Amino acid sequence: MKILVTGGLGYIGSHTVVALSEAGYEVVIVDNLSNTRIEVLDGIESIIGRRPTFYELDLRNELQVVELFDKEPSIEGVIHFAASKAVGESVENPLLYYENNLSAFIYLLKQLAVKPKSHLIFSSSCTVYGQADVMPITEKAPIKVAESPYGNTKQIGEEILKDTVKVSSGLSAIALRYFNPIGAHASAKIGELPLGVPQNLVPFITQTAAGLRKELAVFGDDYPTPDGTCIRDYIHVVDLAEAHVAALTRLVKGASSSDYEVFNLGTGKGSSVLEVIESFEKVSGSKLPYRIAGRREGDVIQAFADTEKANRVLGWKSKYSLDDALASAWAWERKLRNLD
Ligand code: UFG
Repeated sequence: MKILVTGGLGYIGSHTVVALSEAGYEVVIVDNLSNTRIEVLDGIESIIGRRPTFYELDLRNELQVVELFDKEPSIEGVIHFAASKAVGESVENPLLYYENNLSAFIYLLKQLAVKPKSHLIFSSSCTVYGQADVMPITEKAPIKVAESPYGNTKQIGEEILKDTVKVSSGLSAIALRYFNPIGAHASAKIGELPLGVPQNLVPFITQTAAGLRKELAVFGDDYPTPDGTCIRDYIHVVDLAEAHVAALTRLVKGASSSDYEVFNLGTGKGSSVLEVIESFEKVSGSKLPYRIAGRREGDVIQAFADTEKANRVLGWKSKYSLDDALASAWAWERKLRNLD
């Protein structure tokens, strides 16, 4: 079965392309290369042993989307990763985020909704819960007012999808709410490629250890958590990729209990920033220079997933530990910087 992966050369997209190919799906990738490099395609090819079909195009151009579906009429499923994901940037440039994350999505849905049968997986985020009142967070937790335009695009994206599925007879969909994806493929041939100064914790840690950054700033140690630093649910990107295969296969088999379902994707385990540093130091065998800095605006105190629904319904469970994920992130950073 032919599956379109939008943003397939991005971080989560590239790992999912590998997992889909290994599960026997034929993958077509589109990417506009706005936040990645074409070399990722070489990495994918070298892992799976063939080069997936790739189109460099911009989904914000509806004509290009129409042409893509004309050229690839047998696409039956889409995993839609293509989107912008920097919270701070979204505050500064909201229209860019609404256009990137929503216009493109609408154009894709217009193509899928008219097919007799089609499946879609939407990349959502635990950001839709804001600071949830109860931990771990279940899919039934209330959706809070979005803290940023980025978060808003994920909430609105879910709503658009739900409304579209209701009126299109052939479309079934799943929204996956990711917690904090980290790590890289075991081969170290693909991984995260942040442009500029990394905003996320793990790439900042690995770049600091590699000598690109002087020290990590820990954003706040006065939170109401056991060690005072924020708690997140860090999930290995390879586990996350496998969850996409499980979700897609559920849609393809017609096994869904309704045409629109939502799942949390996390490990169920919360780790503090200091615990992440400690784990990194253990697996890398080196001391990480860091200092305690002020809180970062917009950070929630803690967020970790209740994974019961994904485990039971998707038959998927994360396999890798925080140590495993950080070891793979470090191997990837060393490879990128030719440190071995
Ligand atoms: N952190 C630091 N120093 C850094 C970077 C991060 O201490 O240099 C801390 C943050 O304060 C936070 C934790 O590390 O406590 C994780 O931060 P990330 O930026 O890696 O991840 P977030 O949880 O803030 O963000 C993630 C996704 C976003 C999404 C958000 C929803 O990257 O796309 O979850 O909560 F919006």
